[in-house]
Amino acid sequence: MMHDFHYVNDELYCESVRVKDIAWRIGTPFYLYSHKTFVEHLEKLQRAFKSVKPLICFSMKANSNLAILRTLVKKGAGLDIVSGGELFRAKKVLCPPSRIVYAGVGKTDQEIEDAIRTGILLFNVESIPELSRIERIAGKLRKKVNVSLRVNPDVDPGTHEHIATGKAETKFGLDMDTVHLVFMRADQYPHLLICGIHVHIGSQIVRGEPFVKAFRKILLFLTHLEKEGHKVEFLNLGGGLGIIYSDERPQTADEFAKQILPLFKGKKYTFIFEPGRFIAGNSGVLVSRVLYIKETQAKNFAIIDGGMNDLIRPALYGSFHDIWPLKKKGLTRKSTYDVVGPICESGDFLAKNRALQELHPNDLVAFASAGAYGFSMSSNYNARPRAAEVLVRGSKFEVVRERETYLDLIRGERIPRWV
Ligand code: LLP
Repeated sequence: MMHDFHYVNDELYCESVRVKDIAWRIGTPFYLYSHKTFVEHLEKLQRAFKSVKPLICFSMKANSNLAILRTLVKKGAGLDIVSGGELFRAKKVLCPPSRIVYAGVGKTDQEIEDAIRTGILLFNVESIPELSRIERIAGKLRKKVNVSLRVNPDVDPGTHEHIATGKAETKFGLDMDTVHLVFMRADQYPHLLICGIHVHIGSQIVRGEPFVKAFRKILLFLTHLEKEGHKVEFLNLGGGLGIIYSDERPQTADEFAKQILPLFKGKKYTFIFEPGRFIAGNSGVLVSRVLYIKETQAKNFAIIDGGMNDLIRPALYGSFHDIWPLKKKGLTRKSTYDVVGPICESGDFLAKNRALQELHPNDLVAFASAGAYGFSMSSNYNARPRAAEVLVRGSKFEVVRERETYLDLIRGERIPRWV
């Protein structure tokens, strides 16, 4: 099963809950998540890699709602974080620190200090100045800190340019010569235990080849390091597994494991993975209501109450999200729509030239595969309160994040006396 959204008598359900009932109860737009889909996707990976007992650190940037994080942590996941705010969330859901890994090119002193004090498993380090900075702070705190070095393997993951991270000209990771030097000079960092290699080449990668190519390079490199007597304990293979948005045929977790595991046969690393989209993507939808149908000479616009501030992926990457009507109307004609939000930008669209059953004001639609990088990238642009988030489990549902209010919008703002 790819996900737990399906039709019963032409009405859209999430698990055993009719989505319309939630819309009536709480209004629109809102994100809706299936507990079951989240858990099953985590378990698919856990099962596929069972023979190496991996640590699967959900990449929280994809979806950092506390209810989701708690769900995954309870099922044995760790968390991949990239900021102090994400560390705060990880602590809120009582993620054991020994299951937290911290990546990102721009960690601040305060963030590093908080993470060290929390006792996270390791830092994924992306530059030499960052290494020195962690060394200095660890020294100040009299702690010895685990460090993995993020290798930039210079491979093209064959994905959208904005989400490709493993090419040499991106800001991510260190080239292998530099990583090698760091291992040779590890004694310059008395408060760091340089004990791991990290690699993440990009996101929404649907074919196995880029992974295999990158991991082969890493393997050769590891062999070289080990020949010189360097010890590598943690091997973090990142995230990046692609999912189905429209007609992609991404590798399954099992297929992925079958390609990857033989490469590392006989190696005794602690394997870490950092999937985000694979676990969250198909586990959530964005539900929105049609406000107006506007027919012009050029186009039919379906203007809805969700916009690019709620789901920015189409505007930012030209991403495709399937549109599911909450109620299918058997034999009605299809029309072609640009499905657009209320925001004052021509980039504010969720779908272009999409053939859909004829839409009318008040119709409800769901944007599929919006569980990853949906709410987490949403904003308050145009002073729009961010959407509510709802979690379904079986026949139960609960609002796991209230819709923002106008007061939330101005929290922390003040007007100086002198204006
Ligand atoms: N690890 C690192 C170091 C990452 O930078 C990322 C994602 C992940 C893991 C998780 O990648 P995933 O398994 O989700 O592919 N906003 C974009 C995606 C940006 C991904 C950023 N890094 C989108 O909406 O497609």
